[in-house]
Amino acid sequence: MRTAAWPDWPIWNRNAEDGIAEMLRSGRWWRGSGEHVAEFEKKYADLMGVKRCLATASGTTALLVATHVLGVDAGDEVLVSPYTFIATYNVIFMNKALPVFVDTDPKTFLINPSKIEERLTDRTSAIIPVHIYGLPVDMDRLNAAAKKHDLKVIEDACQAWLGEYKGKKLGTLGDLGCFSFQNSKNLPAGEGGAVVGNNDKIMDRCYSFHNCGRPYQSVERTSDYPIRGSNRRMQQIQALILLSQMERIQKDADVRLENAKYLDKKLAEIPGIVPYKLVTEDARSAYHLYPFRFISKEFGNVKREKFIQALKAEGVPCSDGYGKQNHDGLIEEALNSRGYKRLFSEKRLKQWREENVLPGNDQLTEEAVAFYQSILLGTKSDMDDIVNAITKIYENRGSLV
Ligand SMILES: Cc1ncc(COP(=O)(O)O)c(C=O)c1O
Repeated sequence: MRTAAWPDWPIWNRNAEDGIAEMLRSGRWWRGSGEHVAEFEKKYADLMGVKRCLATASGTTALLVATHVLGVDAGDEVLVSPYTFIATYNVIFMNKALPVFVDTDPKTFLINPSKIEERLTDRTSAIIPVHIYGLPVDMDRLNAAAKKHDLKVIEDACQAWLGEYKGKKLGTLGDLGCFSFQNSKNLPAGEGGAVVGNNDKIMDRCYSFHNCGRPYQSVERTSDYPIRGSNRRMQQIQALILLSQMERIQKDADVRLENAKYLDKKLAEIPGIVPYKLVTEDARSAYHLYPFRFISKEFGNVKREKFIQALKAEGVPCSDGYGKQNHDGLIEEALNSRGYKRLFSEKRLKQWREENVLPGNDQLTEEAVAFYQSILLGTKSDMDDIVNAITKIYENRGSLV
């Protein structure tokens, strides 16, 4: 169907070059000696409609800061979506807490709020909803459950810049929200991250923790290092790249949205292709990926892998999304470690293993197909190429089995 290239990513902004050269020549490379990281924090907070932003070295470190500051501690349990990048629950393990997976609703690709309560124990201290691919989690239902059971809410918005839920930006609806600016992201800087929030005291602690536990505003100087901490700081060069990339973020988001809406309509007309479902009409995805489900039996039992191969051969890049990560090796590696055996009883770990059954998530990992965000930066005629390629595969499904 197609041999032409798709939009590239990331896209360099030459406006960044003079500022970067000047900063490099000056030797003011870290945030302690320059103003660019703070400037980025102010602009990102404004963009998100939130009081404060703390820039970090990466999305993973943003999550590490947020979970620590909100009190996730050794021996706690943290509810989390299993359909996510591995960093989300690696961070829970780094805090020596137990990730407890809440099943996914395959229609939305997101945590199923009706499954939260059955996973609670007296050790559950927090929940990490993940706005995966930029799709908004049903935050009203999630926050209601969190409030009822006194859980902290840390939004993993690492794929959700400018996504919205009922008029508010994703990442601003829980206690803290975390973002990633890694190279592939819709707002890229090679590496980078941010924590956003509205509570000054909590954000002061985030700052202090990310700066080795040094005093910061309400974190008073009772000693040189009044709280535990780590170095999670962003570099000046990351901030300068981000400031230049922010010049295009809203326009890109609008183009992705328009193309996604076009695909929603056109793809739904093809049997066996089921685009993601938004949890409410009053929501907007950030489209880090454009996902849909491929229903093999409606496609003449063509296997998903074969469909993906055919779509790539037609010139449309696509992927199969996340696997069954709740069975990944790192989990047993953690649960069998000396520390976890000390922190959790044999009975609790046995029960955890027995309950690690996620039919909704399993189904999704077998059906999902996704297009990367930069594809959505194309033209309407590019979107037609996608629709025509899938239609062609559907019409020739008999020769693919
Ligand atoms: C959902 C999710 N959480 C966390 C992360 C971690 O971000 P980073 O790679 O910037 O550390 C990512 C990034 O890939 C992500 O997609």
